[in-house]
Amino acid sequence: MSSDALIDSLSSAVDARPDDLPLRLHLATLLLDAGRGGEAIAQIGQALAREPGSDAAQALMQRALGAAVPPPPPAPPAVPAAGPAATAPQPPAQRPAPAGPTDDPLAAYEQELADVVPPRFARAGDEPEPVTGDDDRVYDVETSTIRLADVGGMSAVKERLELAFLGPLRNPELRRMYGKSLRGGLMLYGPPGCGKTFLARAVAGEMGAKFVSLSIVDVLDMWMGNSERNLHELFEAARRNAPCVLFLDEVDALGHKRSQVSSSSMRTLGNQLLAELDGMEGSNEGVFVLAATNTPWDVDPALRRPGRLDRVVLVLPPDAEARAAILEYHLRERPIAGIDLRKVVAATEDFSGADLAHLCETAAEYAMADSVRSGEVRMIEQRDVERALKEVRPSTRPWMATARNVAMFANEGGVYDDLVAYLKKRKLI
Ligand SMILES: Nc1ncnc2c1ncn2[C@@H]1O[C@H](COP(=O)(O)OP(=O)(O)OP(=O)(O)O)[C@@H](O)[C@H]1O
Ligand SMILES: [Mg+2]
Repeated sequence: MSSDALIDSLSSAVDARPDDLPLRLHLATLLLDAGRGGEAIAQIGQALAREPGSDAAQALMQRALGAAVPPPPPAPPAVPAAGPAATAPQPPAQRPAPAGPTDDPLAAYEQELADVVPPRFARAGDEPEPVTGDDDRVYDVETSTIRLADVGGMSAVKERLELAFLGPLRNPELRRMYGKSLRGGLMLYGPPGCGKTFLARAVAGEMGAKFVSLSIVDVLDMWMGNSERNLHELFEAARRNAPCVLFLDEVDALGHKRSQVSSSSMRTLGNQLLAELDGMEGSNEGVFVLAATNTPWDVDPALRRPGRLDRVVLVLPPDAEARAAILEYHLRERPIAGIDLRKVVAATEDFSGADLAHLCETAAEYAMADSVRSGEVRMIEQRDVERALKEVRPSTRPWMATARNVAMFANEGGVYDDLVAYLKKRKLI
């Protein structure tokens, strides 16, 4: 295979797996060898942006820069290790790098990369102008393109969503007749990686509504009172963008059972969340609050009162039909040949969507490692998947073990009836 063809196929592999560092560096090495230094630098820059500490990437960058920029004038007899002595003569304020040519390799490659990789840290001087007032800054307001049809399986969950949200939204006449307002809250819960976040995006896509998502880290602020303000701003942004799905990821962190919260500022934040959900701070008409958690038993029960997150929906590990859909989705852009989907589906009971994605990645890795070793690109085959199956274990079982205890001993008011039914069906209780 010619080196250009190999580079092309490796480039597509890197596009599909942008975080795979060894793969990217391999591509960069080939580019370098082929005399395509500029492209190699771009690749190494991406690698360094993801993993700045990587020695391999640093070394390759040195090599690439040696090839791409004119070599610096011969240095005085080198000190063997680049210890403090080597860096001492440089002025302390070496950043931002001066514009002219320089023999500091770091500064040189920063210049080289200025167009390719954004700086990793913004310094005081180049921070963007603070935006005030109406701009949605702490969070992103986006339009989702995923539709419910993209979510494999989950027919029960989809039905609940249809009844609670989508139906009323589509039928304003009926809504008026029944005096139903266009707002609501629903909490998705279940084991990790089973599509809660994915589903929330799909709901937004289905409604043609905007999607505002937040996780606890977006709200928390070290300054007293700022966290509450952030939370309020987030709800305000959702209200301005109605109809809108406001997605509170990991809501257990935000609305933790108040009896268990020792810090008073977290308690204040929990209360603020209740107030925002009640619409005390502004009308929530057209704002659908979806929340997700792996640990609903840690969530403040006050959050589940009517008018707040009053519907609770269990998102289970994908069933066979869903697994087939998820596997197809994750293999759709990969070179595959002779994969026996039925067999894989049968072997992946209890796998979460994320586990299935990981399985596909691992199989691709094996096929690629083979291709790299032999220099001949081959397709991903059933044997790669079988090998990956030996390595990737389902991650939902520990969650089920905890959930089992909750279902058996703490199913107050029947909140976890769905879970009990599932565990019974699976003969886990
Ligand atoms: N039913 C599904 N159909 C298609 N893809 C799915 C499905 N379930 C999960 N996935 C895939 O698995 C990935 C992980 O799902 P997601 O991030 O939504 O899980 P989660 O339940 O939010 O997990 P966590 O509790 O860890 O936040 C998704 O990005 C998607 O690619
Ligand atoms: Mg999630």
